[in-house]
Amino acid sequence: MSAIDHQALPEPPADLSEHSARLVHTIIAETALAGAISFARYMQMALYEPGLGYYSAGLRKFGPGGDFITAPEVSSLYSRAVANQCRQILAALHEPVILEFGAGSGRMAADLLTHLAGLRSLPRNYLIMETSADLRQRQQQRLSEALPDYYPNIIWLDTLPEEPLDAVIVANEVLDALPVHRVTLKDGIVHEQMVSISDGSLAFAGRELSSTLNEYCRLHDVINCDCDDGYTTELHTGYAPWLGSLSALLRRGVILLVDYGYTGAEYYSPERRAGTLLCHYRHRVHDDPFWYPGLQDITSSVNFSAVNTIAQQCGLDLLGYTTQAGFLLGSGLDQLYAEQVCNDDIDRYRLNQEVRTLTMPDAMGERFQVMALGRGMDLPLQGFSFTDLSHRL
Ligand SMILES: C[S@@+](CC[C@H](N)C(=O)[O-])C[C@H]1O[C@@H](n2cnc3c(N)ncnc32)[C@H](O)[C@@H]1O
Repeated sequence: MSAIDHQALPEPPADLSEHSARLVHTIIAETALAGAISFARYMQMALYEPGLGYYSAGLRKFGPGGDFITAPEVSSLYSRAVANQCRQILAALHEPVILEFGAGSGRMAADLLTHLAGLRSLPRNYLIMETSADLRQRQQQRLSEALPDYYPNIIWLDTLPEEPLDAVIVANEVLDALPVHRVTLKDGIVHEQMVSISDGSLAFAGRELSSTLNEYCRLHDVINCDCDDGYTTELHTGYAPWLGSLSALLRRGVILLVDYGYTGAEYYSPERRAGTLLCHYRHRVHDDPFWYPGLQDITSSVNFSAVNTIAQQCGLDLLGYTTQAGFLLGSGLDQLYAEQVCNDDIDRYRLNQEVRTLTMPDAMGERFQVMALGRGMDLPLQGFSFTDLSHRL
């Protein structure tokens, strides 16, 4: 949907609308005090406000009964292919750990660790950094059942360790959930879209760009001279602090980022006039971030060129960039598929559908990208052996 058609969205039940109203009340109180808040602050509250935000409250988000489906939820083949890549990296490190950011339902951790256990390649520890208390509880439940023997080695972190680590750091669909600023072109000048109160409701209101956002636009070539008035897009100011903290943590190892996104030139192309901000509710996609805050996911695509520029500034090396399909094939998806035992035609059909969803260009295969950043690693990573598109960044 490009313009929101509220009729096409299922009306939430009364208890959930009340939940959203409580969050709106909190956001409005802060906005009234400040006069206006940035869209990044609004997104932060809508997704992560303790007890009320989309990821903080106990709503079902993942899978068919939730709002969206991620690759680890599509098929365990996905996490097993990622595990193959992890195994190659782990073998080159000294007493390594895996650190997963934003572990969602815990499905990827469960499948990845089960596969590594089968290959006798489990890391010393599996660390999980999860902002949502509710999701952390679900992850603990799932992993204690799936891996009872290894479970004591799984550690949930409140803050990142101070001592540098040899590690594989994995973040699947985490960057798209980081709050973004919104900007729009008006009378040839880039303005920030703030969130203010209009007639008692939350609404966008423009203001002059701060020097920090101006500098971000300059550095990442945002809104060039070919863009028309009304052009609207996002600025990912959350990448720098996040990558900076990972870089400080990584002595040797690799950061694997998987997400939907583009190169900078694709992201800020003059044709992408409305940016990439999208909201997900019950498998419907629309573009109104003010629709029932707290009940829907709000995301933006990833600008992988910006991630790369910032990573270089942090002293990290780019080790590979490719499509999800390319990465999975390089990581042995075909062999994992061949090894999968299917009891009947229905099982085989299901498996084929899963592979299709993960790899076909019209599904997740080319919409999702994989980037590897690293330090002190000189081995060519197998996930990028099939195809490496780093030159496009
Ligand atoms: C779209 S979900 C993806 C979940 C899971 N990785 C998957 O692919 O199914 C985003 C996840 O990132 C978490 N998250 C968002 N920002 C985070 C941050 N700064 N640090 C750690 N986790 C974060 C959310 O709570 C949620 O678990």
